[in-house]
Order: sequence, then structure tokens, then C-alpha cells
Amino acid sequence: MIKKLRLTVLMDDQPGGFGLLSEHGLSFFIEADDFCLLFDTGQSGLFLRNAESLRVDLHDTGVLVLSHGHYDHTGGLADLLSLNRSIQVYCNHAVLLSRYSRQPDRELKSIGIPKKSSEALNCIFNSVHLVSRPTLLTPDIGITGFVQRHAPFENTGGLFYLDQRGQNPDLINDDLSMWFKSEKGLVIVTGCCHSGLVNTVEYIMSISKEKRVFSIIGGLHLLNASGERLEETCRYLKHLSPDSLYACHCTGTGSTDFLRNYLPFKVENGRVGLSLEF
Ligand SMILES: [Fe+2]
Ligand SMILES: [Fe+2]
Repeated sequence: MIKKLRLTVLMDDQPGGFGLLSEHGLSFFIEADDFCLLFDTGQSGLFLRNAESLRVDLHDTGVLVLSHGHYDHTGGLADLLSLNRSIQVYCNHAVLLSRYSRQPDRELKSIGIPKKSSEALNCIFNSVHLVSRPTLLTPDIGITGFVQRHAPFENTGGLFYLDQRGQNPDLINDDLSMWFKSEKGLVIVTGCCHSGLVNTVEYIMSISKEKRVFSIIGGLHLLNASGERLEETCRYLKHLSPDSLYACHCTGTGSTDFLRNYLPFKVENGRVGLSLEF
């Protein structure tokens, strides 16, 4: 069991304190006893400037986990590798796919991994570990790989495609999350959670063999969620009854308010500079 677990938000859509920069993107620095890792790299190198301001030293961080291949999670990769060339990267092979999204009344927008990041990843291919199945970094730190999806009311949360004409749906199968086994229970960390929060939590509980969920933090991609999905998600979370939930990045302000109003435990917004100890 992890005795001391600390998570620092290096990048989020919500601004933090004076001198910290924000953008649409996500990056966490996580310290689990003596094991340090970075989870996602935002959409640019700005998370590195926040790390400096927050006195987080990434020069020797051994592991980077990429939650999926969207630009707002992989965009700072090249800048990170210029700082730390020896980092080991864990991701699904599909992070390199081209992908697109459609917003109402707009052209399809390219939202895949930026060229600069995929080139940087190719340059260190010996240090890239492809994860499609559950993978342990230590006995208490796991990466889900592909998340099995059984909840009928959950979907990827948007109009996502693998082609520029919008004909081949992107199920974002590279989406992965992490779990940390602390003495208080599981701490679950998500990127965008395109697999759905209920699917992700259920999957992690089944593979980690731990039923106590202490906290959930990350992007939950509920901004376009239907009322039915929000209600079903809340019903599930109420029954799960964790200590806290930190809604970051793509959760959506309205959906976060919905969760906060419905749930009897602590629901907070993530923001740059937030530092949590579990
Ligand atoms: Fe995202
Ligand atoms: Fe995403």
C-alpha cells in the first residue's frame, strides 16, 4: 500500500494562483512514496513553466503515462523530452492515430497528437511501452490499458472521427486511466475518461481487486452528457461513496455543478497548482 500519495496539477483548463498558466489541457505530477510519474503533458510546453513555478523538478522523473492521443494531453511531449530524454513513456499504440472532432455547425477539427509530439515519440521508440492491457508500474500503481465498456448510458462524450470526412467513428480505444492503492483505498486518475467514469471505476475495481474507492481526480468528459447519463453517473457515485471527487479539464462547468449538487461527498473543481495529499 502507498503510504504517502501526492498529486499536483501542472496543467488544467481552470487557472490557478498568481504566475501559473492555464490552457485547455491536462497534466499531473504524482508522487507515490518514492515513485514519481507524470500523467499527460497538456497541449503545449506551458505545463513545464508551471512545474518550475511550483518547484516540481521533472529532470529525473522516470515515467510518463499518456492517457490518450488527443492534442490537449500530448502537445507538450517534445518540450518534455528536451528536458528529460531518459523518461519511459507508457501509452496505447493508438495515440499516434490521426483523429478529428465535429462541433455543431463547424468544420471537422484535427485533434490528434501534434506532429512535433509524434516525431519526438518516434525518436525515443526504445523507451516507449505500449499498454493495451492492465499494467502494473509497482504492485500498488496500475495503468488500465483499454477500459472495458459495459454501462449502456456511457459513450465517448462527443462526435469523434478517425477520418477527415467524419465517416469513421473514433471510439477512442486508447483511453486509459490509472489507479493508486493507498491505505485509504483506491485513488483513480483519469485523463478525459472517454471510456466513461462508471466503466473506468468498475474496470479498475475488478482488476485491482480493491473495492474501496477513496478519491477520483481527472477530466470526466461530461460536458455534452445527457441528463440521463449525468443522473445515472451520480446514482452510481452516490452508492460508491468515495471521500472526494476532483473534476478537472473537460468535465464541463454545468456537469460539475450537477455532480456537486447531487452528491453527498466533496466535489471540487481541479485547477492549476492544486496539490492534493491522499
Ligand atoms: Fe482532453
Ligand atoms: Fe480527449
